[in-house]
Amino acid sequence: MAKLIACTQEVREEAKQDPEKARSMCQELEDGHILFFPQIPFAFPQEDREFLIHQKQMENASRKNIAYKPHRDVISNLASTDLTKREKETCLQIMRRYTYGVEEFLGSFLSPYKSRWKLDYASFRPMQEKGRNLRKRARNDLLHIDAFPSRPVHGARILRFFTNINPDEARKWITAHTFQELLQIFSKEELLQSLRKRMSPKKRFLRSWKKCLKALGLPITVRSSYDQFMLDFHHFLKENEEYQKNCPKHYWDFPPGSCWLVFPDQRTHAVLEGQYALELTLLVNHQALLNPEQSPVGLLEQFSKQTMIERSYAHFA
Ligand code: SIN
Ligand code: FE
Repeated sequence: MAKLIACTQEVREEAKQDPEKARSMCQELEDGHILFFPQIPFAFPQEDREFLIHQKQMENASRKNIAYKPHRDVISNLASTDLTKREKETCLQIMRRYTYGVEEFLGSFLSPYKSRWKLDYASFRPMQEKGRNLRKRARNDLLHIDAFPSRPVHGARILRFFTNINPDEARKWITAHTFQELLQIFSKEELLQSLRKRMSPKKRFLRSWKKCLKALGLPITVRSSYDQFMLDFHHFLKENEEYQKNCPKHYWDFPPGSCWLVFPDQRTHAVLEGQYALELTLLVNHQALLNPEQSPVGLLEQFSKQTMIERSYAHFA
C-alpha cells in the first residue's frame, strides 16, 4: 500500500544537506510512495494562484488543461479564450515561474536526480474533476498508471509534482497497487501474449515504415515497445471493471495549498474530486534511478526477456 511521506521543512532541509537523506527520498519515490508537502516548498506568490483561479474564461472556453511547454516557452489552449493579450502574458509568466520554481526546488531536494531529467509539460487543471463527462480511457477517476500516447518516454520515468491551488477544497485521490504488484496480479501468460502480439511481423513492419517517415522529417510518433505496453496497460486497467471495483484502495485528501510528488507510471492512482491544480512533469533518466532494474521498463525487460526500448529514440543518450 502507498505511504504518504510528510516532507516538513525539517525533512527538506535535511535532504538538501545530507545526500543520504536525499537518496532515501528518491528510494521512497521509486518504491511507489507519495512525498507530501504541507505547503508549497518554494516562493510562489498568492496572487499568482488567485490570478489562475479567477480566470473563468479559461475554464469555460477550453474545458481542457492549460499546458505550458518549457522547451518552446509557450502555453497551449489559451488562443481561443477571451483573455486579453496582457492576461495571456501574465498566465505564461505564472506557468513559467511555477515550472522553474519546482525544478529548482527538486534540484536541491532530490540531488541524485538533479540535472538528470528533462522538463516535460506543466499544466493548470481548472476543471472540477467530480462528475466530469469523459470517455472511459480519458477518465481521471479510474485507477491507472500514466502513459503518454503522443509523447513516448522511451524508458524515461514520469515524475509529477502536483499543487492544489484551490483555497477551500481538498483534491481527492485514490491509489492502489504498484506496477510490480500488478505484474504479479495479472497472469504472466496474458501479459506475455500481449507483448508478443505487439512484436508480430505486421507490427514490426508498420513500425519500420513509421521510422522511415520520421527519418524523412515527418512529424510521426514512434513508440517503443515499452511505451506501447504502458499505453495498452493504461487502457486495460481503466477498462477492467472487476479491478476498478474490487481492488483494495487508499483514499487521500490533499488540502488547499499542499503539494505532492509521485512516479505515476508506477503507482496506480485516480482523482475523484477537486478543482484548480498545477502540475509539472519531469522525465527522469532511467540511468539516474537508484534501482533501475525495479522500474517498469526494468521489470518488463526481465520478465519478457526482450529489449523494450531503442536507444536511438531515447531522451537520454
Ligand atoms: C492523473 O494523473 O491521473 C490526474 C491527477 C490529478 O489531476 O490530480
Ligand atoms: Fe494519471
